[in-house]
Amino acid sequence: VVARALALVGISVALAGCGRENALEPASPQQHRIVDLFWGMTAGAVIGFALIVFLLWLGWHRRGRADLPGGGGDRRGTTLVVVLGVVVPIVVLSALFVWSDVFVLRATSAPARGTTELTVEVIGHQWWWEARYPGTSAVTANEIHIPAGTRVEVVGTTADVIHSLWVPRLNRKIDVIPGRRNRIVFDATEPGRYRGECYEFCGLQHAHMGLAVVADPPARFRAWLAHNAKDAASPATPQQQHGRQVFLSQACSGCHQIRGTRAHAVVGPDLTHLADRATIAALTLPNRPDSLADWVRDPQHEKPGARMPALPLTEGELNDLLAYLRSLR
Ligand code: CUA
Repeated sequence: VVARALALVGISVALAGCGRENALEPASPQQHRIVDLFWGMTAGAVIGFALIVFLLWLGWHRRGRADLPGGGGDRRGTTLVVVLGVVVPIVVLSALFVWSDVFVLRATSAPARGTTELTVEVIGHQWWWEARYPGTSAVTANEIHIPAGTRVEVVGTTADVIHSLWVPRLNRKIDVIPGRRNRIVFDATEPGRYRGECYEFCGLQHAHMGLAVVADPPARFRAWLAHNAKDAASPATPQQQHGRQVFLSQACSGCHQIRGTRAHAVVGPDLTHLADRATIAALTLPNRPDSLADWVRDPQHEKPGARMPALPLTEGELNDLLAYLRSLR
């Protein structure tokens, strides 16, 4: 039984670290505070549990005897009960309250005005994330760039139902709620790509509502932002030109925006710099020609329930459309 239990624990631990984000590997000062609290509480719980097991064992071991270990009568027994059962819990829980509800809460809650250098608006949609950079015309989806080593204020809202924004290595989660602007700080210590998830059940594709926070070195971030704020490049070849025509004449332009064209709808993700992104469909698929083709051909096969319909395109139209979309660097 012990061997089986150990195997089960081993498998759980192995699967828990299965290539996904580990909240216990902090990548920001805020998450560091949370992880310290977690390990502090775990250590305290282990010590408390060990102490109780020891006392139980001691009670059972000395079950035939009336006196306490080391002598002493009822009075000393009462003192022990008061100290271990009342004084110690009050001290420990008060300390824990101050640590978590004062210090950790303060460090991880909405940033005070003027303590951040950049604001990003993150908007939850069924089932993808939109990111806007106030003061610029940059808009992107699901891959949210921020500068590393910089306190970034993230303002979370939603276009439809309640979602929850959680990037485990950067900070705690915030819900995004209709009519409210919830704020959190992302402050990645090192450049890197940090995966996030929607953490509130929000419909059929809740489980496929991933996002990536890409922390760039500050100079690279500024270059990315300046590039993203630009309009889409004009089609370079006749095929791409026809692809743009397909995009504008078909239902694509009824939902998506490509800046620099007359497509300005905001139902689906902004596609102005689609080819810049590493993934599509909220991190469900890699942004490769074959998976992009599969996605446009039959979105319902990849993400049943997704708001994007399959369009009646001929193979020729589809190829030209894909050539155009792939040119949107
Ligand atoms: Cu959005 Cu779950």
